[in-house]
Amino acid sequence: MWFKKKKKEEIDFDRLPAHIALIMDGNGRWAKKRGQLRTYGHRIGAESLKVIIRHAQKLGIKIISFFAFSTENWNRPQDEVDEIFRIVKDLIKEKKEDCIKNNMKFVIIGEREKLDPDLVKEIEDFEERSKNNDGLIVNIALNYGGRGEIISAVNKILADKLESVDEATFRKYLQTSEIPDPDLLVRTSGEQRLSNFMMYQCAYSELYFPKVHWPDFREKELEEAIIAYQKRDRRFGAIKK
Ligand code: IPE
Ligand code: IPE
Ligand code: MG
Repeated sequence: MWFKKKKKEEIDFDRLPAHIALIMDGNGRWAKKRGQLRTYGHRIGAESLKVIIRHAQKLGIKIISFFAFSTENWNRPQDEVDEIFRIVKDLIKEKKEDCIKNNMKFVIIGEREKLDPDLVKEIEDFEERSKNNDGLIVNIALNYGGRGEIISAVNKILADKLESVDEATFRKYLQTSEIPDPDLLVRTSGEQRLSNFMMYQCAYSELYFPKVHWPDFREKELEEAIIAYQKRDRRFGAIKK
């Protein structure tokens, strides 16, 4: 039988999402399916993170954000929490010099008080030494919660004794003040919720929920997400002429 060859869908490089945000979910289920410990899923998930950063840079994406640890994730068993932070530390140690050399700018959002001081030092060094780079911006949300971010913005506004603020001023008090809102938000593993991730910033983001668990989210899956995004019609409340 003769089949008409399906045209391969391609990315339109003139219409890339400037900012892609990723909720890296499903590490635990991915590991369990393979008879492994949840922490094994986090280790392999870290490989996906590296692959996605490299591929985003290659494709010409400007900003990429990752949800690595939420303010609610402290409710997990201590062993798992410790292992996640060990993985984050190892990842920074392994990739820091490479990222700086490759012109990437590294940003961490989230509350730092609760983090291990050694990790905070590493993060600050990474941010400081990459701050003048003008390539891919890699934003990692670590001990981050969207509600907490909004509340702390309000508290800073009160401390500054402002009587009222508009949206432009309010944004300056958010931890993402330096970066534009995500155009595309991806959450892996089929869950369709934000789980306290950048709710304010994602007001007009296109949402995409692939079934794959995060450890299986690699180059092809990132490209599929971008292609799906490019099929959306972003109207921002207006009507197309
Ligand atoms: C995401 O994977 C990683 C973190 C939340 C740190 P999960 O650990 O949530 O994996 P599932 O959702 O339980 O499968
Ligand atoms: C969200 O995933 C947090 C991260 C991916 C870091 P969770 O697995 O913690 O979210 P819930 O509990 O399913 O909502
Ligand atoms: Mg999860």
